[in-house]
Amino acid sequence: MSGEGGRGERTLSIVKPDGVRKGLIGEVIRRFEKEGIRISAMRMIRLTRGEAEGFYAVHRDRPFFGSLTEFISSGPVVVMVLEGDDVIARNRRLMGATDPKKADKGTIRADFAHNVEQNIVHGSDAPETAETEIRYFFSDLDLVR
Ligand code: RTP
Ligand code: MG
Repeated sequence: MSGEGGRGERTLSIVKPDGVRKGLIGEVIRRFEKEGIRISAMRMIRLTRGEAEGFYAVHRDRPFFGSLTEFISSGPVVVMVLEGDDVIARNRRLMGATDPKKADKGTIRADFAHNVEQNIVHGSDAPETAETEIRYFFSDLDLVR
């Protein structure tokens, strides 16, 4: 479905628990809207530890896996599907580098993140991971067309 009819690419965005706690849901969405990025689905949920482990399964052998999944399941998150041309890369540019100390000025992480783990937002990193991640939270019926 994605890419058909000139609708461009899709990606999954998450406002992580630290972003929700800091009152940054609106600020993150404002930055997307200002860039002309369309939101085609959106929901607030609280992940169980097991659901967080499933979502971050690619990182299961990394030393930070336990801490990361504890953090992601520590409070509600806002999950969104973003659409637009080149939206995967555009979202990653708005987010900035994983480590806020290395993130470009004016990015979400440079402006608001506490450290390399508590970094406010998630964004898919490639078309294949985007589709897998979108399907983790949304069915086709959830996507506005
Ligand atoms: P994300 O997947 O959340 O969009 O972030 P990313 O691509 O920039 O970073 P990635 O390497 O995929 O890591 C996923 C998330 O794991 C946490 N992390 N902690 N303690 C650490 O060294 C460390 N490294 C990564 C971050 O929350 C990161 O966003
Ligand atoms: Mg990643």
